[in-house]
Formats: sequence, structure tokens, C-alpha cells
Amino acid sequence: MTDAAIPRLEDLESRLGDLDGKRVLVRTDFNVPLDQDSSPAAITDDFRIRSALPTIEWLLERGATVVAGSHLGRPKGAPDPRYSIDPVRERLAELAPSVEVLENLRFDPGETSNNDAFVAQLVDGVDGYVNDAFGASHRAHASIVGPPKHVPAAMGRLLEREVEVLLGMRQKPKRPFVAVLGGAKISDKLGVVEALMSVVDSLVIGGAMCFTFFAAQGKAIGDSLFEPDMVETCGRLLQRSASDGPTIHLPEDITGVDPNGGFATFGTQLPNGCKGFDIGPGTAAAFTDVIMDARTVFWNGPMGMFEDERFAAGTRTIAEAMGETKAFTVVGGGDSAAALSQFGFDHDVDHVSTGGGASLELLEHGDLPGLQALRSE
Ligand code: 3PG
Repeated sequence: MTDAAIPRLEDLESRLGDLDGKRVLVRTDFNVPLDQDSSPAAITDDFRIRSALPTIEWLLERGATVVAGSHLGRPKGAPDPRYSIDPVRERLAELAPSVEVLENLRFDPGETSNNDAFVAQLVDGVDGYVNDAFGASHRAHASIVGPPKHVPAAMGRLLEREVEVLLGMRQKPKRPFVAVLGGAKISDKLGVVEALMSVVDSLVIGGAMCFTFFAAQGKAIGDSLFEPDMVETCGRLLQRSASDGPTIHLPEDITGVDPNGGFATFGTQLPNGCKGFDIGPGTAAAFTDVIMDARTVFWNGPMGMFEDERFAAGTRTIAEAMGETKAFTVVGGGDSAAALSQFGFDHDVDHVSTGGGASLELLEHGDLPGLQALRSE
């Protein structure tokens, strides 16, 4: 389901006549994870760079000069050598030689403040603009919303695919539609949880956020992480589920540590001094069944502290189920995408989003500032 009001690369080509010799600014999301301990900083996952190649190659094949611009990390509006774009420029030169790469856009304070003068600088000498930075399209920053006001603009192939998959899933999912959510905080995901409650058939909750739901059910959670000011909200979500909402599946067992720091498995009541770090084996099996019976599954957020091998089993089992189910499978960017590739299932799902925050905001609101800018150009 593509948004017919958003110009595609072919529309840009018709508007510019011929792309041969034209200078095209491509806003990419090359905000890749870096190992800052090595010098210079090394890219630990180039997925976002590789994902922009179809657009870049399409433009290069037509003789365009491609100028790629991206942010990297969160520098504070001034040059910061830790966030130099150099490692990205080097990696891109191996994959697509001849692309010009601008320095980190956030080295200029005008990027995040969406300053007109910075937009003017970006489009100076440029014939056309392509937004392929899905992961940054929830930010109303200069390079995302500014250029379409000045030059013919289009969405790139990556942005197009992300919108097609995520909006398609939101608007016309094959049912049963299951959302698997994890991560530490329900407060970070409340907006999307509320929006998903209206479209999914069931919601599977893992990660530390389950303890806030446990607290709402009056269960003992020991010393586990939870959000006291979200307990009431979780209670409301559980009530909505019980009346006419989708089923909410919560863990039935938990693994974590006992007061001596030893590995332990608990039921859904955690004694004082104990702390939960992962869903337990019974839960992992139950969640797998829900995923296997679904026809659409969206997964965002790890089931536990998977960086620690003792607490990786829950997340690994979910990644495996995502790879095995016959359902249409979509994984939100960020930690769940990292877990999927760490466990080797990234090629077994239908779509891995390049956007963490962006995919959640698109599911929540059905639109993003970067898409609006392209529509109204
Ligand atoms: C991301 O990593 O989610 C995007 O690149 C956006 O980065 P930001 O959250 O720093 O705007």
C-alpha cells in the first residue's frame, strides 16, 4: 500500500527531465552503531548503509551525482570528532564509489532546529532531493522537512518499502495480528501500545515492562525494574483487554537472580531481593505458540537482558519463532533488529525496519513529518 500522494523516484526523474548530470541530495539514515573504543571508531553493523543502496544505485545508473547527507549520533550542534562521518564515508566508498558524503548534519545547530539558512545551504546547487532516511523521518529536522520546499523531491526505495509494510500492517493486517513488545519501559511505548490495542488481536508483553503490568495485577515483583507511575495505566490497559480489547499475554514464568546473585527461575511472584531479567522457558514456549498461530506478527523490544548470555534465551526463542512462523513478520529497528541478527534470524523474517523510533511513531500516528513534507512539496 503505497501513498499515491508521495512522489517516487520515477516522478522525480520525469520532473527533472533527465537525471544525467543532475545533482541529487539524498537524505539517508547512516546513524550506524559505532565501536567508540577503537580508533578511529568502527562501524559494528552496516545494515542502514546497505539498505540505502537500491536508491543510490538507481540514481547513479541514470548518471546523477549523488550527495548523501546523514546525522550520526547526537552531537550537540558542533563538530565532535567522535561522531565524524568518516567511517560511514569509507564504508560507503566500498559499496558505492563516487558518492559524495556530507559531514554529520548535526554538527550544524541548524539541522535539529530546522533552520531556514541551513536548509538553503543544503539545497544550494542541488537539482533534486530524495528522502531515504526512514529512521529519521519522525524528526522535523532541516534535512528531512526543508528541501522539498525548494527543489523537486521524492521518497527513495527504502522509505517507500518501510511505509508500504508498516502502514499496510496497520491498515489491513492478515489476522490474527499479534504484536510482541518488550524492552524496559512501558512509558516509552505507551503511544504505540494504545494505537496497537485498536488493531491487533493480541499483545504479547515481555521485557522488564512486564513487571509494571505485574504490579498492576498486585503481584510481587521483588527488586525487578518497574515504573511506579505507569502502574495505573497498565491496569487500565488490562481492563480494556478484559472488556472488549485484544488479549494481553503476560509471562507465566521469569528467570533472574536470587538475593545471592545466583541464576533462578520464578513463577509470576518474585520474592523480596529477587530480580527478573528474562521471560522463563514456559513463557517462551507459550509466546512461540501465539506467534506460530498468527498471520501477521510485529515485534519490537527484547524479552530480557539478552546481552548477558544467562538472560538471552527468551529473546533468542522469540527471534527463532519469528524466523519459523508462516506469518508475515515485521521487526522494528533498534534492539530487536540487533537481537535478530545476533541470533542469525535476520534473513528469515519478511521485513526488518531500519527505524526504531520512526517505526513506532508511524504505527502510532499513521504518518511522519518526513512523509508530510514530501506530500506537500
Ligand atoms: C535512530 O537511530 O533511531 C535514528 O537514526 C534517529 O536518531 P535520533 O533518535 O538521534 O534522532
